[in-house]
Amino acid sequence: LSNGLALTPPMGWNSWNKYGCNVSESLIRSMADAMVSSGMQAAGYQYVNVDDCWQTGRDGAGNIIADPVKFPNGMKALADYVHSKGLKFGLYTDVGPMTCAGRPGSLNHEVQDANTYASWGVDFVKVDWCYNNGLDAQTQYTIYRDALSNSGRAILFSICNWGLYNPWIWGPATGNMWRTTGDIQDSWSSITSIIDENGPRAVGAGPGAWNDPDMLMVGNYGTGAIGGGGMTDTEYRSHFAMWSIMAAPLIAGNDISNLNQATKDILMNSEVIAVNQDPLGKQGLLKSDINGLQVWSKELSTLGTRAVVLFNRSASAANITVNFDNVGLNATASVRDLWTKTDIGSFTTSYTANVPAHGVVMVKLTGTESNSSGPIISGKTYRIMAK
Ligand code: DGJ
Repeated sequence: LSNGLALTPPMGWNSWNKYGCNVSESLIRSMADAMVSSGMQAAGYQYVNVDDCWQTGRDGAGNIIADPVKFPNGMKALADYVHSKGLKFGLYTDVGPMTCAGRPGSLNHEVQDANTYASWGVDFVKVDWCYNNGLDAQTQYTIYRDALSNSGRAILFSICNWGLYNPWIWGPATGNMWRTTGDIQDSWSSITSIIDENGPRAVGAGPGAWNDPDMLMVGNYGTGAIGGGGMTDTEYRSHFAMWSIMAAPLIAGNDISNLNQATKDILMNSEVIAVNQDPLGKQGLLKSDINGLQVWSKELSTLGTRAVVLFNRSASAANITVNFDNVGLNATASVRDLWTKTDIGSFTTSYTANVPAHGVVMVKLTGTESNSSGPIISGKTYRIMAK
């Protein structure tokens, strides 16, 4: 959506994956505090988002009411607090008459709610798809888009209709991000199936408009409100590497006030985040897959460079090779390991690493474009092959 927002994938935190319906002003304040004290804000995380269950009803004029017990000072005061930390504030609603948790949704109140959010200082609105009662998704999200854009405030629009009705086709003109799948769970099988669904949907993704394979589970270890049983640190590293190379929004979904070292190292790895935030805004693509030993490559803004994830989906450690010509580079490239932030050296034709079971090796290749003389369109070099 060309509203000047989300020129790189949004980064932030959302309450749902860890806390479910158990949201409150004190929780959100403590997460805003933690965003700063943990170093996540400095690493690029910006949005503090309340998901379902903050709202309880409407007043006589139809204005949405925040739960007065859970949010005793109201949403404007909470937004002010989040803003005082240099962060941005997000809220959640639904296209239908009710949210998934049975709270009031926005149907027939789109303009009123958008104006209310703007008056509170809301910066991000996620709109869910429960109780949609046969509505047309594109039509309904377009109504919401227009309500937000007429609200007088710059509000990032997050479409949450679970990948139904091809939002990667109409999403780029409608929202800043759109879910491509059903809800994530805290499990290896969930993230691998989401990757398989989200990966081929790169077509519409770019600055201002992102495929959203759902919020992160990193660091929950099975303790969240959502099922799945948890993952190992190796699997969480794969989850984060894949969301980064797929140019997905990085919305943490764990308790960021209590991070162990492994979780910090994953969520705040500056070189992995830089791949996600690269201004060219290309979603990385699957380049080869040999029995679950996968190579993913993402074009970066500097010509001749690629981010590459060697992703081992098998149950035992294995060597995985990236062939430079398969990612559009000439034969010689230098390789830097992004997790360990070390230069590995210069290689010819290919690079091979041993990758742990369910793990990744993530590298940056610096070489030269193998076909960089493509046509020049609007001052930008378009290369002929999909890289
Ligand atoms: C379904 C969405 O996909 C989730 O991300 C979350 O917002 C829940 N609804 C809230 O009820």
